[in-house]
Formats: sequence, structure tokens, C-alpha cells
Amino acid sequence: MLPGIKQFDLSNRVAIITGGSKGLGQAMAAGLASAGASVVITSRNADEAKASAGQIAADFGHPGIAFEADVTSQDDCERVVSETMNRFGRIDILINNAGINIRGPIEELTLEQFQEVQKINVDGVWLMSRCVIPHMKNAGYGRILNLASTLGLVGLSDRTPYATSKGAVVQMTRALGLELAKTGITCNAICPGPFLTPMNIPIADNEQTKKFIVGAVAMERWGELKEIQGAAILLASEAGSYMTGSMVTVDGGWTAR
Ligand SMILES: NC(=O)c1ccc[n+]([C@@H]2O[C@H](COP(=O)([O-])OP(=O)(O)OC[C@H]3O[C@@H](n4cnc5c(N)ncnc54)[C@H](OP(=O)(O)O)[C@@H]3O)[C@@H](O)[C@H]2O)c1
Repeated sequence: MLPGIKQFDLSNRVAIITGGSKGLGQAMAAGLASAGASVVITSRNADEAKASAGQIAADFGHPGIAFEADVTSQDDCERVVSETMNRFGRIDILINNAGINIRGPIEELTLEQFQEVQKINVDGVWLMSRCVIPHMKNAGYGRILNLASTLGLVGLSDRTPYATSKGAVVQMTRALGLELAKTGITCNAICPGPFLTPMNIPIADNEQTKKFIVGAVAMERWGELKEIQGAAILLASEAGSYMTGSMVTVDGGWTAR
């Protein structure tokens, strides 16, 4: 008999989720914990990371630990990985979720703002991946999930820093998926459409956003946090074993048009 639903089981798996203190990262961490994983939450805010890990541990009964860590700091990335290895002895899953968005017309943005977005959204993904891969290679198993975006696949005005960064994440995912294809490690990306997380609260109520949701997203609504969990569990589990270098869109039909 084929394994079916058992392939989604994450019992005894250990997952690091960068930026797991809120929004999509917290939802994916909770999704993985609901399937049995122990989760390691990072963010630049120690209290928020701890609160998120504590809530997930209380809800699902698996260990959840937290680190204050900036994904742009090589020292921080190395510390998260070495302390996770010390605590659990393994890292099966990395979700490169930490990200920021700085919006605006190009003439109103500074080079520093453009570079800050690339540093967190691109360098951070590369650095954390580079730190976990040796451990995953030793184990002959790993799942790397990158949070790209529909804006890595299609354009939107006033988003040059963010769209550039997410296009880079799409290409990094493809290149790394190929590089790791024979190691037992997969590398895939989720490309979410609009979800009403803290990242989008500043634009949620403006008329342009409301028009966009109805005009571009086929389902004419925001994504709900629970709707990111299925793709994350798939790509983090045995169920996704023949997927690598893939872009999984979770976008209410935005990019199907
Ligand atoms: N929401 C959407 O509609 C949407 C759509 C497509 C793609 N995405 C992508 O999905 C991911 C999560 O987005 P979200 O909407 O959940 O964002 P969010 O609510 O703003 O949460 C972002 C998370 O990343 C952390 N973070 C930011 N900079 C960091 C850094 N330098 N080092 C470590 N952690 C950092 C934040 O914590 P601290 O600030 O405390 O560090 C927070 O935990 C992002 O990569 C985003 O680009 C989101």
C-alpha cells in the first residue's frame, strides 16, 4: 500500500522558521507543529519570538524555542544553527520567511532603502541556507522553503525593491534546487498573493489596495493565514519529495490570469 496521508507527518522533525514571530511565518510554524514538528522561531525581537514559540508549544505540545537573530548577520545565522543542533541534534526543515517591504515610486526611494530590502529578503535567505546545508547534507535529508512572492513572478508598480528581491529568491530557489538535487535536500519556494499580515496593514485600507484585490486577485479577497499552511506542510514533508526548484503559488488565482 502507498503511504498516502502518512507522508505529511512531521513527527520528530525539527524546523527553523525565520521571522516566525508573526504573520505568515507564525502561521507556517503552527502548521508544521500541528503535523508533529518541533519549531525554532527567530526574529529580531526576542520577546515576540519567545511569545510565538511559547504559544505554539502550548497549542501543540512539541518543544518550541526562540532566538533573537537578524538574518542579515552571519554570526546570528551561525548561532541559530549551532544552538539548534545542540538542542535537537538535527535540522530537517528551514523556512526562509523573514522579509520586509519598502514601497514607493523609484524617485522617492533611496539606494539605502533598496539595499536594505535586498539584504534581508535575498542575503538573509542565502546566508541561512548556507548555514543549514552542511547539517542537512550530513543527514542526507532536508527541506528548504523560501518565501518568494507573486511579485517574484509578475510586476507591480511602486514595488521595485521588493519585486527585485523576490525575483532573486525565485532564481536562488531554482539554482539551489538543482545544486542539491542529488543530496536528499529539496529547495522550493512559496509565492503567496496578498495576506493581511502586519506587513500589509499599512496599505490595507487604501482605495488602491481595495481595487487591486478585486481587480487582480481572481478570488477577490485577501488570503487567510490558515491558507498558507497546506503548501508549507507539503513542501516541508516527505509528501514533497519529488518537488525541487518549484514555485508554489498560493495567490487566490492572481497569477493564473
Ligand atoms: N503578507 C503577504 O501578503 C506576503 C505576500 C507575498 C510574500 N510574502 C512574504 O512572506 C514572508 C512573511 O511575510 P509577512 O507578511 O508574514 O510579514 P510580517 O508580518 O511583516 O512578518 C515578517 C517577519 O520577518 C521578521 N523579520 C524581518 N526582518 C528580519 C530580519 N532582518 N531578521 C530576522 N527576522 C526578520 C519579522 O520580525 P522582526 O521585525 O521582529 O525581526 C517578522 O517576524 C516575507 O518574506 C514576505 O515577503 C508576504
